[in-house]
Amino acid sequence: PNLPDLLVVGSGFFGLTIAERCASELGLKVLVLDRRHHLGGNAYSEKEPTTGIEVHKYGAHLFHTSNQKVWDYVTRFTTFTSYQHRVFGKYQGQIYSLPMNLGLINQFFGKAHTPEEARDLIAEQASEFDTDGAENLEEKAISLIGRPLYEAFIKGYTAKQWQTDPTELSPDIITRLPVRYTYDNRYFNDTYEGLPTDGYTAWLTRMADHPNIEVRLETDFFDVREEYVGKVPIVYTGPVDEYFDNREGRLSWRTVDLEESVVDVDDFQGTSVVNANDEDVPYTRILEFKHFHPERVKTHLPGKTVIVHEYSRFAEEGDEPYYPINTAEDREKLLKYRELAKREPMVLFGGRLGTYKYLDMHMAIGSALSMYENKLKPHFAAGAELT
Ligand code: FAD
Ligand code: NA
Repeated sequence: PNLPDLLVVGSGFFGLTIAERCASELGLKVLVLDRRHHLGGNAYSEKEPTTGIEVHKYGAHLFHTSNQKVWDYVTRFTTFTSYQHRVFGKYQGQIYSLPMNLGLINQFFGKAHTPEEARDLIAEQASEFDTDGAENLEEKAISLIGRPLYEAFIKGYTAKQWQTDPTELSPDIITRLPVRYTYDNRYFNDTYEGLPTDGYTAWLTRMADHPNIEVRLETDFFDVREEYVGKVPIVYTGPVDEYFDNREGRLSWRTVDLEESVVDVDDFQGTSVVNANDEDVPYTRILEFKHFHPERVKTHLPGKTVIVHEYSRFAEEGDEPYYPINTAEDREKLLKYRELAKREPMVLFGGRLGTYKYLDMHMAIGSALSMYENKLKPHFAAGAELT
């Protein structure tokens, strides 16, 4: 059949960045496969049809970066709004401003503290455990921020995220628990932050909009691999264990269940994300999507809003893999898969699933730009071997 110059498996940010660069800069014919019914990977979004509110279908996606190269690249395809992310948390009937900051401390302890007084208070409470001697996540967290803040803002949330009591979790899961002794509650502190003005799908679609790029949806690579493997260079961004038929065992992931509903109020919670810090509330947070785009207020149907309850759990076979769990066994398996990947001729592994690494969008794009510059361009433009 008509073989492309390059096959890309997966149309997420990693795969599309590779495809766009190879098509635009090198003039290559690129075929992109995705097994889903849409392009864009986990950043895909669509408008909820009755309200006109854009919903990120795989969970809230906030764009932020301090990488100038990535920013220069992404702004070729979209402009960004001035959205700045802020997160709140509900605990025992009160709403607190996160990440832990001076406002939260004063509200929680019911008293005004200067930055220095707050620092002294938390240091005193954190002296209960020594960080280096912490034997589990609970002790580690208490050693960093003290028991009261731990029990309110870390314990229940972490137990729900991991379906495991924090005394049973490894202390290595957390390295630091930042507390800000100011009232700054901006979630990110990157140079650039915002949401794509026309939405994620418009941005992703523009990346693929090139005469040399064909995106073939609802096509699983494993159904067609014989047509391509060993015949054309491949960039594979699916799960690395799956590529090798799980021969070294499955890597473990957490997944997220998203329960979307349209409710009959104009404004449900007054902001985009409210974490549920109480342990007996089963979901981890509620997203309210209209608040990601306040500038679109006129396009949203009044009197209604779209909310999503988010639940976290271990991924089982058939679930969407979202966050690598990265146990000691996982790391051992990953080393074996990396060896196999190295020896797989003409196939490069990339992206979140292909490398078993949590990557933010800007990291996935940055890493794809590097793979293009360091491997694909030297191969296609100068005949270097593809390894
Ligand atoms: P993906 O987007 O996962 O794309 C991989 C694609 O490969 C998928 O479309 C999949 O269908 C396809 N595929 C896999 N196997 C096959 C196969 N055998 N055949 C055909 N196609 C296949 N990043 C941020 O910067 N900010 C955020 O706020 C943020 N929030 C996130 C929230 C969640 C819940 C998750 C999971 C991720 C979040 N991210 C966020 C990360 C962001 O989604 C990733 O950076 C991005 O998805 C990585 O792109 P990727 O191309 O590596 O993988
Ligand atoms: Na301590």
